[in-house]
Amino acid sequence: KFNITIVGGGSTWTPGILKSLCKMKDRFPLKKLTLFDINAKRQAVIGEFAKVLFSEEYPDLDFNYTTDAETAYKDVDFVFVQMRSGGLKMREKDEKIPLSMGIVGQETVGPGGFAYGMRSIGDMIKTVKDIRKYSEKAWILNYTNPAAIVAEALRREFPNDKRILNICDQPVNLLRSYGRLLNMNADEFDPVYFGLNHFGWFTHIYDKDGNDLLPKIKQLILEKGFIPADAEQRDKSWLDTYATVRDILIDFPDYLPNTYLQYYFYPDKMTAKANPNYTRANEVMDGREKRIFDECRRVIERGTVKGAQIFHNDAHSDFIIEVAESIAFNKARNFIVIVENNGVISNIQDDAMVEVAASLTASGPRPYVVGKIPTFYKGLIESQLAYEKLTVDAYFERSYQKALQALTLNRTVVSAIKARKVLDALIEVNKEYWPDL
Ligand code: G6P
Repeated sequence: KFNITIVGGGSTWTPGILKSLCKMKDRFPLKKLTLFDINAKRQAVIGEFAKVLFSEEYPDLDFNYTTDAETAYKDVDFVFVQMRSGGLKMREKDEKIPLSMGIVGQETVGPGGFAYGMRSIGDMIKTVKDIRKYSEKAWILNYTNPAAIVAEALRREFPNDKRILNICDQPVNLLRSYGRLLNMNADEFDPVYFGLNHFGWFTHIYDKDGNDLLPKIKQLILEKGFIPADAEQRDKSWLDTYATVRDILIDFPDYLPNTYLQYYFYPDKMTAKANPNYTRANEVMDGREKRIFDECRRVIERGTVKGAQIFHNDAHSDFIIEVAESIAFNKARNFIVIVENNGVISNIQDDAMVEVAASLTASGPRPYVVGKIPTFYKGLIESQLAYEKLTVDAYFERSYQKALQALTLNRTVVSAIKARKVLDALIEVNKEYWPDL
């Protein structure tokens, strides 16, 4: 039985993870579970809700929630990290400031992702140091966004720490959506995938008999359009943005793209579709945040989870637990995760943090070779990678120059004039969070 801690205990994603832990308690049994957050108020609601949930569904679990690092990280086997530095208020700025200048406004893409990355790096480094102070051997499974930038920063700061694994649920979300398109169980898919986080492609998706399902999925998307699993809770205007995935398949039909690529291929189209006064952050604040906190409070009041409706993304919550399970029991199951390249994509530099399929064992991820990728994809990845690395340089070197280079390289910006303008505006609102550039 394992001891785990969830960092970001006050997140609206946490109840879903708690529910999945109950569902999977025979496969991945827990002795102790701790929630940690720096925001005691938010976490108290989720924590009290959890007490009700566990009293009914996990009575023998030793559960607590805390804002104290020692209590959170002592004698822990796995730490699940899913923090949002600056909260949704800063996400709103990440999205709206670029949009107000006609640039893509998205939390992990373009200047928004840059700003969020500059906030996340410091908080993540502190968190890893805190964890290591009390628990040298715990596995750190990290969902924190923007995952590509965070992964690169952690690789540099902790080069010898082999128990930090950066993950993202988007590839699983996509696989589940393909499963639905085909009326098949996505758990049986064996995917081949390459790229950077939120910047990658499926080259094959095999079924259990070794047939490649990719051609069929492409055809279905071209015919019917495509809505990824994580988008199902979103309102109509948001769903429309996914129409662009079809466009990618028409323009670049080789592989199946991660949905985030639409921002890089069609930044003008995506910007034109967006409402600069009401972005995804507003949707989340008005929707998920209210819904989940209200429902948690109702559960606390009633003293039972029966009939409660708070769980919204199974892929996100199941995935991190399945990753932990595969490591804990040396199951060597295959997952798409973020690892140091080291030849996996043979014509991309070794020290890139790439997102690929890997077998997860007790000694960590063993990625599968991708081999050489074609020039178009190599070019795209290398320029995005340079943007990510320069962002991390800007953070560590406190360099305005590197930040300007990073944003100018980003496909959603390109113009150095725009890059400087958006950078200056982001510096202004991130004073509390970023190092001085
Ligand atoms: C997907 C992505 C995550 C992202 C999340 C945002 O799950 O893979 O990287 O954080 O969507 O979801 P939200 O509902 O907050 O916009």
